[in-house]
Amino acid sequence: MPRLSYALCALALGYTALAAPKLSPRATVSLDAWLATETTFSLNGILQNIGASGAYAQSAKAGVVIASPSTSNPDYYYTWSRDSALTLKVLTDLFTNGNLALQTVIEEYVNAQAYLQTVSNPSGDLSTGAGLGEPKFNVDLSAYTSSWGRPQRDGPALRAIALITFGNWLIDNGYSNYAVNNIWPIVRNDLSYVAQYWSQSGYDLWEEVNSMSFFTVANQHRALVEGNTFAGRVGASCSWCQSQAPQILCYMQSFWTGSYINANTGGGRSGKDANTVLASIHTFDPEATCDDTTFQPCSSRALANHKVYIDSFRSIYSLNSGIAEGVAVAVGRYPEDSYYNGNPWFLSNLAAAEQLYDAIYQWNKVGSITITSTSLAFFQDVYSSAAVGTYASGSSAFTAIISAVKTYADGYVSIVQAHAAANGSLSEQYDKTYGSELSARDLTWSYAALLTANMRRSGIVPPSWGASSANTVPSSCSTGSATGTYSTATATSWPTSLTSGTAATSTSASTSTSRSTSTTSTTSACTTPTSIAVTFDEIATTTYGENIFIVGSISQLGNWDTNSAVALSASNYTSSNHLWYVTINLPAGTTFQYKYIRKESDGSVTWESDPNRSYTVPSGCSVSTATENDTWR
Ligand SMILES: *[C@@H]1O[C@H](CO)[C@@H](O)[C@H](O)[C@H]1NC(C)=O
Ligand SMILES: *[C@@H]1O[C@H](CO)[C@@H](O)[C@H](O)[C@H]1NC(C)=O
Ligand SMILES: *[C@@H]1O[C@H](CO)[C@@H](O)[C@H](O)[C@H]1NC(C)=O
Ligand SMILES: *[C@@H]1O[C@H](CO)[C@@H](O)[C@H](O)[C@H]1NC(C)=O
Repeated sequence: MPRLSYALCALALGYTALAAPKLSPRATVSLDAWLATETTFSLNGILQNIGASGAYAQSAKAGVVIASPSTSNPDYYYTWSRDSALTLKVLTDLFTNGNLALQTVIEEYVNAQAYLQTVSNPSGDLSTGAGLGEPKFNVDLSAYTSSWGRPQRDGPALRAIALITFGNWLIDNGYSNYAVNNIWPIVRNDLSYVAQYWSQSGYDLWEEVNSMSFFTVANQHRALVEGNTFAGRVGASCSWCQSQAPQILCYMQSFWTGSYINANTGGGRSGKDANTVLASIHTFDPEATCDDTTFQPCSSRALANHKVYIDSFRSIYSLNSGIAEGVAVAVGRYPEDSYYNGNPWFLSNLAAAEQLYDAIYQWNKVGSITITSTSLAFFQDVYSSAAVGTYASGSSAFTAIISAVKTYADGYVSIVQAHAAANGSLSEQYDKTYGSELSARDLTWSYAALLTANMRRSGIVPPSWGASSANTVPSSCSTGSATGTYSTATATSWPTSLTSGTAATSTSASTSTSRSTSTTSTTSACTTPTSIAVTFDEIATTTYGENIFIVGSISQLGNWDTNSAVALSASNYTSSNHLWYVTINLPAGTTFQYKYIRKESDGSVTWESDPNRSYTVPSGCSVSTATENDTWR
């Protein structure tokens, strides 16, 4: 969304600070309890902002995501490509984790985007691709023709990313022809746009600075990398993805200043900006290690950047006075921000938390934490005895750092809790002095940010996009372009209901469903195993006599009855690797909730902390085993 500077002065003048208490009463409810209700409220908040059935978006076309119901001061009753794609990314993650009720709204979004790509607008049209860079449209999908900060080049990349996740689910669950016919043509246009225009300047995600922007190029890199793999899965290819992705990665390195990530090449600001934290969380890859080149959340660069970004707000908001470094504070877009006089934003606080939850996931996955001279200051904030070195899982330093970073991350979400409306509503901003909500009400992106931060906090991560095979910076780089293909996406019909794991047969003879790396013949029928051997790995520190069990919402896991819980084995438990594990055969495609419990020798039971964990058993061709890696909490 927001906003052109010239439009803002007028708004800022009309703004009056309300005398409100700094902290609302919600701070007295535990964060876990608040999140349990706020996540439901947030999903509903998103759905209310999507046409045509959303309560606040009834004049919007089906599948059109409005930025906010606010129609004046500010007027956000439009659809932005960026906000919409980030929102759909969340809905798709929820869908692929088992909320199949989101099928219709996702399909309506896909269909709306197929049409939107064809709408000629002030940035151009589809024949040259240039029209795809138009940032915002009217809610009836007509072009917005007044002056605006255009083009904005992140929209096509973000839309491709959201659609690819859905497309991969379709392929994995036996609906390949829909990935081929309904998803790929839209994605192909967006990937073509990215490859052709990535090296040209455009407006940043805040619609203010016209230059090269880190958030934009980082997402463009990701889109081309996973777009290339997706092309292979739908039996196509993407030479323009292959040629440009390494060049974009190369260009991304130039944003690193040596101590933080500079958000924009223009604009005349410090460059300390939520732009960079958002880039790191939206290119988080759960299979990647702490790569500096892709600025993964746990990388030294991204952690150093987190501290520099956060610290830039410590002295400028009254809300933050007296709070020490290493303790969460209210954070905004960038310290020079003057929109509504410059205030903290809910989505900035949630991004600050999410990067840290992502990092915790990656450290547990990698099995160690490495502190470098680059990241040392970040670690010293939360763990005063931090020193350069590598700390293995199981060491006291590893355990202490994970715990401290979790507390620090939760602090950012607790600030959101403290300033949310009593009924759960999240606006765009909250007042830097009084903490009361400001600017657009019920901001769709605020709700999307809450849901992703909560998922990462619960250890629910998105699929890999292939970062670890796309992290090598070429030795010589150029800012070029490559030409792809633009054509109207026309297929818009869908199955009545999508079910996971059923492997409905592909009815379209012309479609190839081979994975690019598949070794099986593309003409042989796909046989989907009905049962998958799922290994649950749980890192839990136990003392003699304590045992770890798993219990959950399906019969195989005892239907939540602790007496029927399944025991894990400690046969691989060592002093440096506190591993408990068990392998259980489960029906493919089943989604369930579960937790680990600890039983003492006297039979007493300790449950892990909330929320419940959620898991969907994989399904699809050639999948027969899976491993879930968890850590006791
Ligand atoms: C929630 O509260 C805000 C004011 O804090 C109000 O504007 C909004 O209408 C309320 N929303 C609902 C769904 O009650
Ligand atoms: C346990 O250790 C054995 C022997 O090293 C190994 O083969 C097996 O894969 C391990 N199991 C798990 C779940 O880590
Ligand atoms: C976890 O699941 C159980 C059983 O369905 C339910 O009673 C409990 O409220 C859930 N906990 C949370 C935090 O949702
Ligand atoms: C769990 O860890 C194993 C071994 O490191 C890995 O092969 C597997 O992909 C991981 N699973 C998930 C869901 O991350």
